[in-house]
Amino acid sequence: MPKNATKTAPVPLITLTQGYSAIAEQFRTVRTNVQFSNIDKELKTLVLTSAGPSEGKSTTAANLAVVFANSGKRVLLVDADLRKPTVALTFKAHNVKGLSSLLFDRKIDFHKIVQRSTVSNLSILPSGPRPPNPSEILGSQRMEEVIRDLQKSFDLIIFDMPPVATVTDAQILSAKTDGTLLVVRERKTKKQDLMDAKRLLEIAKANVIGVVYNAAKKTRDSQYYYYS
Ligand SMILES: Nc1ncnc2c1ncn2[C@@H]1O[C@H](COP(=O)(O)OP(=O)(O)O)[C@@H](O)[C@H]1O
Ligand SMILES: [Mg+2]
Repeated sequence: MPKNATKTAPVPLITLTQGYSAIAEQFRTVRTNVQFSNIDKELKTLVLTSAGPSEGKSTTAANLAVVFANSGKRVLLVDADLRKPTVALTFKAHNVKGLSSLLFDRKIDFHKIVQRSTVSNLSILPSGPRPPNPSEILGSQRMEEVIRDLQKSFDLIIFDMPPVATVTDAQILSAKTDGTLLVVRERKTKKQDLMDAKRLLEIAKANVIGVVYNAAKKTRDSQYYYYS
């Protein structure tokens, strides 16, 4: 783990460990809905965020990345939560260099930093060392260049991001990407916070394509489902 990194934990890759489960199937449904959300223009860059912390952003981002890769798309999961990164831990990768390294050093070739995962078609870009100013570097011109470069090698880039309520990072990146998905967690997300998050994203001109409902308890026969 790089210096200054916050201690975080891996998230469950249900779509890998239980590929035929109801939950994995729900993630495939989310995939289908995302694919059909933009009819005129193919969605190539997607931000995952939520109102507050621990609502399932990273879990949804990682599992969605797996099912999109399963469909044959070349997928890159980017850990753009430079404050509480989890992607490297989840995919048992190292996080010595990552997104922050690319943003700080123009000379670095992203091919040398992007790591293949055990899932075919799925690569990951860890967060890299924690910078002092995450919002600033995510909002930089350099970030736009990096996104453009990455798009030459991947069909879909998924950005795992911090929550909207506390920092501006997700707003900033939502404005630079094709679509944003909001994760809502049962018994955790407050309605007002969700409305505030949606409003903040709309102010940033984000294209909010829908909400992923993440249920913490098995109250229904599946834990995740989706509506727009
Ligand atoms: N539906 C769920 N049921 C049980 N635990 C969950 C569920 N969704 C997420 N978690 C757990 O909650 C914690 C926070 O999830 P995470 O995806 O890291 O949230 P975020 O990225 O929004 O902070 C993790 O430990 C994760 O394993
Ligand atoms: Mg997270």
